[in-house]
Amino acid sequence: MSKNILITGSNGLLGQKLAFLFSQSDYYKILLASKQPKSVFGKSLPYQTVDTGVKQEITRCIREFAPDVIINAAAMTDVDGCEEHREKAYTANVTSVENIVTAAKAGTHIIHFSTDYIFDGKNGPYDESAIPNPLSYYGKTKLASENILRGSNFDYSILRTMVLYGTGMNVKTNFALWVIRSLEENKTIRLVNDQLGNPTLADDLAYATLRVVEIERSGIYHIAGREIVSRFDFARAIAEVFAFDESLISPIATAELKQKAPRPLNSGLLTLKAESELDIKMSGVKKGLTTLYHQFEFEKKFDT
Ligand SMILES: NC(=O)c1ccc[n+]([C@@H]2O[C@H](COP(=O)([O-])OP(=O)(O)OC[C@H]3O[C@@H](n4cnc5c(N)ncnc54)[C@H](OP(=O)(O)O)[C@@H]3O)[C@@H](O)[C@H]2O)c1
Repeated sequence: MSKNILITGSNGLLGQKLAFLFSQSDYYKILLASKQPKSVFGKSLPYQTVDTGVKQEITRCIREFAPDVIINAAAMTDVDGCEEHREKAYTANVTSVENIVTAAKAGTHIIHFSTDYIFDGKNGPYDESAIPNPLSYYGKTKLASENILRGSNFDYSILRTMVLYGTGMNVKTNFALWVIRSLEENKTIRLVNDQLGNPTLADDLAYATLRVVEIERSGIYHIAGREIVSRFDFARAIAEVFAFDESLISPIATAELKQKAPRPLNSGLLTLKAESELDIKMSGVKKGLTTLYHQFEFEKKFDT
């Protein structure tokens, strides 16, 4: 018997990777849902326009499709934007999860994504049992969303990740894409050398999610790239893999940047539990970036 899988936020970076992966097997009957009028996959995969923050919309979608698994990749991910537009952030990141939990039928497996920004970055890297203390409003909304699932009667999986990067169709700029575009145009860039974390290839996280579904794992998992580096070192690795001029990159301290939302500095996620229980191997920095490089080369072949 096949499984009905609802993927919300399917037009986003992770959503696209999930959609692609789950659509490869006939065992999964997928429905994609995102806020935008159209799916980035056109009509090739079933799609509904659904704002998860609007109770009636997500409820109707869930009631009609009756998913066995809901994978919620919808979120407001702009950390400084969340600091400024709190109501919007709360609706996208917290109300959405409340709506999903309210609408889902008993027995649904709910998979949700969270972040290292639920931690304060004083003593990372963190394992799954570390005590959260979010610094930013984004981090607070993501912790609140976790708590909704923990307090529910559902079988839930919370997959915490960080510095997600990758390429996709009309995806918002992520850290790696911004660095690549800047260096391509020979722009000088200054990157923080005191924010530490594991850059995570979105394709790896999507595969880990597939494993969670396949072996029906619930609970909290830290799923992130194998290596903890500063943003400055990550950018230098990008320059190396893509053969850009490394001298365009210089270091800066977070305090000098004056970002709207405070960031955890000494962060990072320990992934031993996920790697052993899900039997996955996350990419390190060079391997992840090499995969990305080849994806760009592949895309270029189809560009006219
Ligand atoms: N990106 C990171 O570095 C990072 C790090 C840690 C954790 N995460 C978590 O990983 C998950 C996936 O992130 P991502 O990088 O793939 O994000 P993304 O590229 O920003 O994708 C999120 C998608 O969800 C859509 N969306 C937002 N609000 C929605 C709503 N109310 N209803 C339906 N769709 C909605 C967005 O549409 P619009 O673009 O139109 O808003 C976008 O298409 C999120 O839970 C995020 O918190 C991400």
